[in-house]
Amino acid sequence: MNLEQFGQRLRNLRKCQGFTQTELARLVPVSPELISIWERAYQHRGRQWKPDRPSTLRLIDIFADQLNPNEAQEWVSLLGYKLGQTELQQIFSDQPALASLVSGVLAASQTNLKRLHLTPTQQLFGVQNAQTELQHVLETTESPWIVTIHGIGGIGKTSLARATVHDLTADRFYDIAWASAKQEEFLPGRGLQPADQSSFDLDTLADVLLQQLATQVSLAYSTAEKIAILTDLLKKRPYLIVIDNLETVVDYETFLPLLNELAKPTKFLLTSRHNLQAYSNVFCLGLQELNQGDTLDLLRHEARVRGLTALAEAPESALVDIYQIVGGNPLALKLVIGQTGVLPLSQVLDNLKVARGKKTTDLYNYIYWQAWRTLKPVSRELLLLMPLAQGGTFAQLTSLSRHNLDALSQALEHLIALSLVEVSGDIDQPRYRIHRLTETFLLTEIAQWQPPP
Ligand SMILES: Nc1ncnc2c1ncn2[C@@H]1O[C@H](COP(=O)(O)OP(=O)(O)OP(=O)(O)O)[C@@H](O)[C@H]1O
Ligand SMILES: [Mg+2]
Repeated sequence: MNLEQFGQRLRNLRKCQGFTQTELARLVPVSPELISIWERAYQHRGRQWKPDRPSTLRLIDIFADQLNPNEAQEWVSLLGYKLGQTELQQIFSDQPALASLVSGVLAASQTNLKRLHLTPTQQLFGVQNAQTELQHVLETTESPWIVTIHGIGGIGKTSLARATVHDLTADRFYDIAWASAKQEEFLPGRGLQPADQSSFDLDTLADVLLQQLATQVSLAYSTAEKIAILTDLLKKRPYLIVIDNLETVVDYETFLPLLNELAKPTKFLLTSRHNLQAYSNVFCLGLQELNQGDTLDLLRHEARVRGLTALAEAPESALVDIYQIVGGNPLALKLVIGQTGVLPLSQVLDNLKVARGKKTTDLYNYIYWQAWRTLKPVSRELLLLMPLAQGGTFAQLTSLSRHNLDALSQALEHLIALSLVEVSGDIDQPRYRIHRLTETFLLTEIAQWQPPP
C-alpha cells in the first residue's frame, strides 16, 4: 500500500478535471474533508484513512476519461485493491466518464425556452402585480432562491408561472427546465383527463431535469448519482428550475431541504396547491381569485375569442350573476363560458349550484377532492361553517363551532395550508374567507357529492 502516492495521483486527476475538493466530494458522494484527507494521506495515532472499495470504484468512474484500465489497476493497487474484469468492463465501456459529462454539459451553452413551448397563447387578467413581483424576485441575483406560487386548483398558478418565465430578461438564466408533476388535468372542453404519468418522485424529477439540461447523461445512473450530477450543474451556473404542481410529488416535504442545497445561484420556481409559508427560505406568493372587474373582462374577452356572441353582448347584470356564483376562478369561468355555447346561462349556473352534469362534477372533483379527503372531521366541519362567516374573525368562527380553540386553530391552519381558506386583514385581526366557487360548492350538494372512484 502506498497512500501518499494514491493521494498525489488523486489530487492531479482532480485538478486536471478542474474540480474543487467540494465538487469532487459531491460526485462521490463523501464529505469534502475526506477528499482532503485522502489527498494528504492523513494519519492520526497510527490510523490511516483510505477510500473504501465502493468509493474507489466511484473515483475511477469519475476519472475514467483520464485513465486506461492498466493505469486504473495500478492506481487502486496503491490502496491494496484489485479490480475484477467485469468491474473494468463496466467502467471502461463506451459510456463517457461522469466528470466529462458534467464538464461537457457546462460547456454547451443553450437556452431551453424554445423547447419548453412557453409562448403564451392566452391573455391573462388580473395578474399584472403578481407577475411583476415574481419577475422581480426571480431576476434578483440575491435570495430568495426558492419561489412558490400557491393557490386553489384552477386559480392560474401554472399560467402565471408560464407568463413570468416567458417574460424574464433573456440572459438572466443560463438555461431553464420545466418539470410538471401533474397527475390529472381538467380541460374545460373535455372534463377530467388523466396526465400521462403515474407517481412523480425524486428519481422522476432527476430524469426530467437531466433530459432537459444534460441530454448526454444516461438515465441509468442511480438516483443519488443523478442528483450528484445535477448538483454539480446547478451549483456552477444559474439555472431556473420550474416544478409545476409540487403538491403531487411523492413526499414533497422531503424535497424542500434538497432544493435548498441545489439552489444558489440556481433558482427554483414552484407551483403548489399547498401553501408553503411554514417552510423557511421560501418566498411565497398566494394567488387569489380575480375581482369582479377582472372576471367580467375575462368573460367578455373569452366569449369574443370563442365567437359566443350572446355572452359577449350579454348585459353586465348577467355577467355579475356568473361572478356571484362562480367567483373569480379562471378555470371554473372557462367551464361556464364553454357551456353557455350549448345551454342557457341560467341552466349552467343552476348546474353548478346543484353539482349537476359530468363536467361540473369533474370540475368539483378536480378542484376539491384531493384536498377534501385529507381533511379531518373537525376541518370538514369548519369548512362547512365558512359560508356563514365569510370574512369573519377567529372569534366569530369559534362562536359558530362546538369545538375547542386548539382543535379549531389546528383545523384552520390545515385549511389555509391547503389553500381552501384565505387570510386577509392585519396580524392583530386576521379575517378568513373562502372562494366563491368553494362557497357555491359547500352550500349545495356536497352531502351527495360522489367523489371519484
Ligand atoms: N389570469 C388569468 N386570466 C385568464 N385566464 C386564466 C388566468 N389564469 C388562469 N387562466 C386559465 O384558467 C385555466 C386554469 O389555469 P391554470 O392551469 O394556470 O391553474 P392552476 O392554478 O395551475 O391549476 P392547478 O392547481 O390545477 O394546476 C387555464 O385554462 C388558464 O388558461
Ligand atoms: Mg397548474
